Amino acid sequence: MTALSIPEVARLEQECFPAHPWTQDSIEECFQNPAYHFFVAKNDAGEVTGYIATYIVRDEAFVENVCVTETARRQGVGRALVERAIENCKANGASFLSLEVRRSNQAAIGLYTAFDFEIEGTRKKYYSDPEEDALIMTCHFGQAKMWTPFGDAEISFID
Ligand SMILES: CC(C)(COP(=O)(O)OP(=O)(O)OC[C@H]1O[C@@H](n2cnc3c(N)ncnc32)[C@H](O)[C@@H]1OP(=O)(O)O)[C@@H](O)C(=O)NCCC(=O)NCCS
Repeated sequence: MTALSIPEVARLEQECFPAHPWTQDSIEECFQNPAYHFFVAKNDAGEVTGYIATYIVRDEAFVENVCVTETARRQGVGRALVERAIENCKANGASFLSLEVRRSNQAAIGLYTAFDFEIEGTRKKYYSDPEEDALIMTCHFGQAKMWTPFGDAEISFID
């Protein structure tokens, strides 16, 4: 994503999260922060149809937001965005990607489950308008370098 897409991303936020959209000012601020990584999907006309933002610190990565415009849903855009974000998290040394999602958000839970995200916990009454619990879902990557106070350590997960 380049800075030119910020106004379109802010419009998407208003469409997809009318109660609490990320404002254009906050998107701009995060875009300047190197820990944030943004990717957009565009249609043939060059319009932004979806975006994803992740935050990476050390070996930990978090999805801040992902959304796809209503008319472009169920066409693989969300899947492409999550796939690109995972690739980027791995390339930046993350060992997992985690997120919060509304318990009732079947579309998003379906998308994350398709990438082997697993439910690791809940945050009670995390959301408002309407009030709802959040599920914490995490995708652990097979191999990664973990930051420790004594230097990097090679770790792997066996399932
Ligand atoms: C969640 C969201 C990003 C999915 O985007 P999308 O482009 O429609 O997703 P895709 O077409 O790539 O779907 C990938 C998979 O996700 C799952 N999925 C997507 N929409 C679904 C739905 N409505 N119901 C159940 N599963 C769904 C399916 O497993 C799907 O694979 P399939 O089409 O082969 O069955 C989109 O619905 C959205 O923007 N929702 C509003 C914003 C939001 O809730 N963001 C998440 C915040 S945590």
